[in-house]
Amino acid sequence: MQKPGALEATLSEQTFNQLRSIIQERAGIEFPEEKRYLLESRVRPRLVACGLSSFEAYTRHLRDGRDSVEMTHLLNAVTINETSFFRHASQFEALRDQILPELIEMRRKEGTKTVRLWSAACSAGDEAYSLAILIQERIKPRFPRMKFQVLGTDINTEVLEEARAGEYRERAIRNVPETYLRKYFRKKGRERGNSYVLDSSIRDMVTFKALNLTDSRDMRRMRDYDVIMCANVLIYFDQSQKKQVLKYMHRALRPGGYLFVGGSEALGDSASQFESVQKEGALAYRRSREVRSRSPT
Ligand SMILES: C[S@@+](CC[C@H](N)C(=O)[O-])C[C@H]1O[C@@H](n2cnc3c(N)ncnc32)[C@H](O)[C@@H]1O
Repeated sequence: MQKPGALEATLSEQTFNQLRSIIQERAGIEFPEEKRYLLESRVRPRLVACGLSSFEAYTRHLRDGRDSVEMTHLLNAVTINETSFFRHASQFEALRDQILPELIEMRRKEGTKTVRLWSAACSAGDEAYSLAILIQERIKPRFPRMKFQVLGTDINTEVLEEARAGEYRERAIRNVPETYLRKYFRKKGRERGNSYVLDSSIRDMVTFKALNLTDSRDMRRMRDYDVIMCANVLIYFDQSQKKQVLKYMHRALRPGGYLFVGGSEALGDSASQFESVQKEGALAYRRSREVRSRSPT
């Protein structure tokens, strides 16, 4: 039951600091001072849902650690999930025209039969499905014997449900070429605006699972990827978290595999562990083809 006061509650500076440090510890996401009101408005519905009347009580509830499900709800509420199909067009062109054909040739010579792609922080699945469409349309016909696995991961369990459902608003599919739109999306409903349901032939190519990029246990299990797309998420982390995540990504790639980040993101110092390659106007980061001994961290 909602107690009176939850809707009027305000987030004091002290509680804001406590709450943002909980979020940063759990998910790496930073909330700078100027985002205090954003955090307040995102978290308020959680107070209501928990029947608590103040942010102080909510923060205590999280800290006492007995309600692990609430932590999931909190992270679902505070993550920014903006995404769309074929978001960074030049990256998909580079993958289609150069990176995937070259990688597949290389893997074929090595005797590898499966190429593995990972959309890390995939939100509602748009990026992972864009990869699947690209593979289905442009790569499989050229390499019919090769198998492909596409994985989408995110910390937000609600967007993962949306990803599995595969139903999208017009805005999300605005960059999908007309031919793919006609072939792979079915228009549905009219009252609250159209939505577009993705065909099961593409949905079946992608697996989704919850994963926290800043959790060492989650990340140590990620191995042997040929391509990782990790766009528009490192921008929410502080420098040391970002560095650590990039270390995990490097280790998760097969030698010769590629990492993409968002179009205008920079890797800073962490770039030095990769080879920077410019392909078709897109900047990619390649793990060296030499196999080095695995670092213990
Ligand atoms: C702005 S969206 C980017 C989606 C997609 N990569 C793109 O570029 O279109 C950022 C996503 O990162 C996810 N995220 C934030 N922190 C995360 C973490 N620690 N581990 C995994 N995913 C995280 C959010 O839930 C959100 O879906």
